[in-house]
Amino acid sequence: MLETNSPVDIRATIVKTYRISSDVSIITLECPEIAAMANPGNFVNIKVNNATQPLLRRPFSIHDVRGTLIEIMVKSIGAGTTLFCDTSEGSTVMVLGPLGNHFNQNSETFQTAVLVSGGIGTAPMLFLEKKLAAEGRKVINLIGGRSKDDLLSQYLTNCRFATDDGSTGFKGTVVDLLRSELPDLNNEGSLKVFACGPNPMLKALAGFCHEHHLPCEISLESMMGCGIGICYGCSVEVKDPDGSIRSILLCREGPVIDAKLFAE
Ligand SMILES: Cc1cc2nc3c(=O)[nH]c(=O)nc-3n(C[C@H](O)[C@H](O)[C@H](O)COP(=O)(O)OP(=O)(O)OC[C@H]3O[C@@H](n4cnc5c(N)ncnc54)[C@H](O)[C@@H]3O)c2cc1C
Ligand code: FES
Repeated sequence: MLETNSPVDIRATIVKTYRISSDVSIITLECPEIAAMANPGNFVNIKVNNATQPLLRRPFSIHDVRGTLIEIMVKSIGAGTTLFCDTSEGSTVMVLGPLGNHFNQNSETFQTAVLVSGGIGTAPMLFLEKKLAAEGRKVINLIGGRSKDDLLSQYLTNCRFATDDGSTGFKGTVVDLLRSELPDLNNEGSLKVFACGPNPMLKALAGFCHEHHLPCEISLESMMGCGIGICYGCSVEVKDPDGSIRSILLCREGPVIDAKLFAE
């Protein structure tokens, strides 16, 4: 949950776009300035086309950084994401970033990172895994989805899967998978959990980690407008250790927060 350098707003060329499933694409953008500053957990706010509709930009996690390129993993769920998935190579889009804070993957206090993700929440995990591995940490991915077609694990290592319908891996939620794997994971030295996915999944995970004294950082989702703290469109309620409730602007004080603030 560390701060990021000042963002830049640049016109970026789409150098590659390809589908990895019926509704998920990987889009590669030439963004040298953003690539140089980005950290795992940061996001970018993208104007997905050059027309007036949709008017607002859409937020996306940085999926990976390779040299001067950034990659975005996009799930088509509405007008903006569908337009972005359909954008052709060689066209340009406006990209503001890197935005928000980022995971604290450098803390000395753990040996093994457990990356817990659900659905399109797997998007930031490749960049995070690469940074963790470069620092010599062991990484284990627990990935959940409704069925095997929802699991997004490409290029991730040490993956264990959970599906709601049992079509592959553990039958149940990814939090249930963590519960069942914990005795085994406890043989991997001290653990830290990093997570991204739907907010109800993160709520359940936050409670589980609190109960089991596992340090955990979660990347939350909300609707967003400006991405830089002006429109107040991304307010999320968190609970301080003394039980008091307060609102944070997720684009500035998130998207990554200490899971203790989100536990029931
Ligand atoms: C910090 C952050 C990082 C994100 N990273 C990614 C990513 O890496 N890849 C990716 O595919 N998506 C990501 N998202 C979600 C993505 O921004 C939304 O899917 C997108 O804005 C939807 O735009 P749309 O025009 O396609 O859908 P709309 O037509 O605007 O909405 C379609 C439906 O989705 C719901 N919806 C829209 N935005 C959100 C949201 N943020 N959270 C929950 N429900 C929403 C709407 O209420 C509506 O029901 C991220 C969101 C945040 C806040
Ligand atoms: S998105 Fe505008 S204040 Fe957060």
